[in-house]
Amino acid sequence: MKRIGILTSGGDCQGLNAAIRAVGKTLYERFGNDVEIFGIRDGYRGLIQGDYYAMTPQDFSGILTLGGTILGTSRQPFKQIRIIGEDQMDKVAAMKSNYKKMRLDCLVILGGNGTHKTANLLREEGLNVITLPKTIDNDLWGTDMTFGFQSALEIATNVIDCIHTTADSHSRIFIVEVMGHKVGWLPLFAGIAGGADIILIPEIPYSIDTLVENIHLKDNLKKRFCILAVAEGAISVEESKMTKKEFKASRSHMPYPSISYRIAREIGERTGREIRVTVPGHFQRGGSPCPADRVLATRFGTAAVNLISEGNFGNMVAIRNGQIVPVPLSEVAGRLKTVPTDLEVIQSARDLGIHFGDE
Ligand code: F6P
Repeated sequence: MKRIGILTSGGDCQGLNAAIRAVGKTLYERFGNDVEIFGIRDGYRGLIQGDYYAMTPQDFSGILTLGGTILGTSRQPFKQIRIIGEDQMDKVAAMKSNYKKMRLDCLVILGGNGTHKTANLLREEGLNVITLPKTIDNDLWGTDMTFGFQSALEIATNVIDCIHTTADSHSRIFIVEVMGHKVGWLPLFAGIAGGADIILIPEIPYSIDTLVENIHLKDNLKKRFCILAVAEGAISVEESKMTKKEFKASRSHMPYPSISYRIAREIGERTGREIRVTVPGHFQRGGSPCPADRVLATRFGTAAVNLISEGNFGNMVAIRNGQIVPVPLSEVAGRLKTVPTDLEVIQSARDLGIHFGDE
């Protein structure tokens, strides 16, 4: 009898249920009645507190198109995972003990960057772990693509598409703030797909003077409007020179709800133009996964079961050059996949006149 645990951790995204379904259905297909699957609620919280249940084949039916996660999720910061809190709970010991209590052969973990650090820690502690890369940010090192990204890209692009009509009618400057945490994959691709005039991503610090110059240039070409796709993690050239501590301190005093509002104010003061900010926020993580994410999540889920069958634990399932491959968790944990500034896609955007705010 195989005993498999499954949990989803960190921010939710589209395709989690598609991946859960793929793992469950493939396990039943492969092992029939010789498998028992345990759903662990709310990510590592459930593993710490022993909050789990035995799943049945029905749990994996009718969830392919469902957004969110049927298992629930939570954020359990890696920094605090070894810290004993007021409840005196040793979280790592508790997770190991519940893994043993369930008598698991393997724990399948669906998550992003923070999740992978803890997954690697559990591997180091001797647990059999296999992970699947999910996040709308596409910032997990070791895989070309995470599931969730392509669905979020559709939504963010749609927002920019819709903004065009109002921007044009009112001859306004519009800023659309796109998620992505500390990396620019989502704003970069949504900006290009949505036909933004300016794209600001964390990997390319912006200068407000250069930005304004570019807006004036576009004004001179009699362009009625200007749309900026701004990463939630966008930083200025000055900020890029700060230490982490200085940056945190300066941002903590920023009197704006997010970076886009600061940029809007700065552009407004220099151009006298009417500016609006749109922040789609968690909208980008919601709803049904797009077909591409359904397929990717399904491929990842079935590949996880292949690794379980082979006893090839301690890996993240990844996609590289179109092939599904295992990547050791020890290589993935703690490494961020940022956007290379010499990426062909960026050059192509520059070639058609999209500005990145750099000097
Ligand atoms: O990692 C996914 C993500 O949506 C990021 O793009 C964003 O910075 C963050 O999560 C928001 O986190 P929360 O849902 O905890 O507010």
